[in-house]
Amino acid sequence: MNILITGGAGFIGNHVVRLLVNKYPNYKIINLDALTYAGNLENLADVQNAPNYFFEKATILDIESLDKIFNKYEIDAVLHLAAESHVDRSIVSPLDFVYTNIVGTVNLLNAAKKYWANNLAQKNLFYHISTDEVYGSLGEEGLFTETTSYAPNSPYSASKASSDHFVRAYAETYKMPIVISNCSNNYGPFQFPEKLIPLFINNIISKKPLPVYGDGKYTRDWLYVKDHAFAIDLLLHKGTIGSTYNIGGFNEWQNIDLIKLLCKLMDEKLGNKQGTSEQLITYVKDRKGHDKRYAIDASKIKSELGWIPSLTFEEGLSETIDWYLNNKEWLEKVTSGAYQHYYEKMYANR
Ligand code: NAD
Ligand code: TYD
Repeated sequence: MNILITGGAGFIGNHVVRLLVNKYPNYKIINLDALTYAGNLENLADVQNAPNYFFEKATILDIESLDKIFNKYEIDAVLHLAAESHVDRSIVSPLDFVYTNIVGTVNLLNAAKKYWANNLAQKNLFYHISTDEVYGSLGEEGLFTETTSYAPNSPYSASKASSDHFVRAYAETYKMPIVISNCSNNYGPFQFPEKLIPLFINNIISKKPLPVYGDGKYTRDWLYVKDHAFAIDLLLHKGTIGSTYNIGGFNEWQNIDLIKLLCKLMDEKLGNKQGTSEQLITYVKDRKGHDKRYAIDASKIKSELGWIPSLTFEEGLSETIDWYLNNKEWLEKVTSGAYQHYYEKMYANR
């Protein structure tokens, strides 16, 4: 199979690329990424010379490039992860999310449709990696299932909901073979330090305040990123065409409880007196339209395909903290912007 992964230089994408490059030496894995602020090719330094790995710097907004890449690599399947992914940024610049997440997804659908038009094969698949945030916010009780109505509240989730709808519509209208998965909050190595967990780890390391939005009593369902990558591999090969799957950690945490656990683990690992990191907690103005609670019912992927998370939250969080503590240079490069020169250095003269 020749698999096009979009957004492979991002947080989840690099784990998916690495898993598939190492697991399937007979596949061609093509990573298409625009290398926005969130894309960091250095994340893939360990596989960049693998014979079955290819990188294309391109934006999904450029139709010509997409057509060229489909033809050049004879693409069989698409794992579409490229997106603007941060809710806070979407509140400031909604249009960036419309362009990349909606227009970009439709461009990619069109490129796949065009390339597969006359010779649609059994192995062709357009797999859209999406979020549970499309379902909106839960009250105290209940879980999101695959049949929960869409009710997105942030510009980010509205753009992902829209792109999900386009993917479904291409399946109905043009018989595009599709799978969609809606996953809960991921955490783990290589996450850009703007999302809660890596931001707070970074701030604890540099003794900066930990900005807790509102009263901190917002709930998220956390999943270790490598477990998400395993689920994506499973759905790529065994997902029922035309279906959607929820993926979650069976792991709900109120932000403030998670933050206190993180502070405790950081104090242990840094050799601080217990309570040191908690002193950095600072309650700040709430996020606009802040969704109260997300929680996923992942029983469909569990019962159909046997997928369950491989790590407990304590194990995953501990591994994640260790990774950031052992990769302070990565954090420094990402926060200073130095990582953005890696592409020129490694690829410009190839
Ligand atoms: P990320 O922001 O870390 O990475 C996004 C990647 O897409 C970057 O490498 C960036 O350079 C690339 N990109 C952005 N715009 C592009 C464009 N126009 N053309 C080509 N590439 C472009 O995101 P992530 O956290 O890895 O999320 C990946 C996908 O998974 C997204 O679609 C997101 O909606 C979804 N998702 C994320 C989470 C999460 O917790 N992070 C949970 C569920 C679903
Ligand atoms: P985030 O990592 O941005 O993911 P999402 O908004 O997609 O769920 O935020 C996770 C939770 O943490 C969310 O309830 C907002 C909250 N949060 C803070 O309290 N402070 C912060 O600085 C950030 C980034 C998030």
